[in-house]
Amino acid sequence: MATQDDLKRMAAHKALELVPHGEYIGVGTGSTVKYFIEALAASGKDIKGAVSTSSSTSALLRQHGIAEVGLNEVNGLALYVDGADEINHSLQMIKGGGGALLNEKIVASASRQFVCIADESKYVARLGKFPLPVEVIEHARSLVSRQLLKLGGEPELRIGVKTDNGHQIVDVSGLNLDQPMSMEDAINHIPGVVENGIFARRPADVLVLARAGGVELVYAK
Ligand code: A5P
Repeated sequence: MATQDDLKRMAAHKALELVPHGEYIGVGTGSTVKYFIEALAASGKDIKGAVSTSSSTSALLRQHGIAEVGLNEVNGLALYVDGADEINHSLQMIKGGGGALLNEKIVASASRQFVCIADESKYVARLGKFPLPVEVIEHARSLVSRQLLKLGGEPELRIGVKTDNGHQIVDVSGLNLDQPMSMEDAINHIPGVVENGIFARRPADVLVLARAGGVELVYAK
């Protein structure tokens, strides 16, 4: 029987078919993306370079000999490839389990096509079982947490974690995410919030979904 890791690897390999030759691409963060970087390096595809979303992704790109380029050095990206913690049928996501949500949202917004790679456990009818990561300015953490309580969530500080951009993360359970776009906006309007892990304003364009029976491309319903 295929394990979750097998499924992640299958999705990552399939995504290679969507990578154009001779373009800059964005690369997300996480265990599924790790398989994508390995597959990309082995494929010999001649991309111009990759914009990274985290120090861990940069290390993997280096390790596999893939040229990294800064976002300021390119005029947009053809494609962005990343995993998700949850993705719904409109291809809106919760991201940030790996703590890289801010850079992921920036790079995704710069990309013409967002390809999400995921195993079937991530594909859900309703977002919200996975606690929502919210990146906060450290000294505003308690203030922000009180506002998150008012929005119906139960915030919990991710102990001992600093993001690549020097902020803290609060994971929020119990939020009603039936209107993901409104919640994405409402949380980002709290002073002290740097970014939150709802990707509704910039959903994926295609989901490469790996199930035990095979891999399929899913478009927004
Ligand atoms: C990183 O900050 C996240 O957004 C990841 O993309 C997400 O957590 C998926 O990670 P895995 O591929 O490790 O499940």
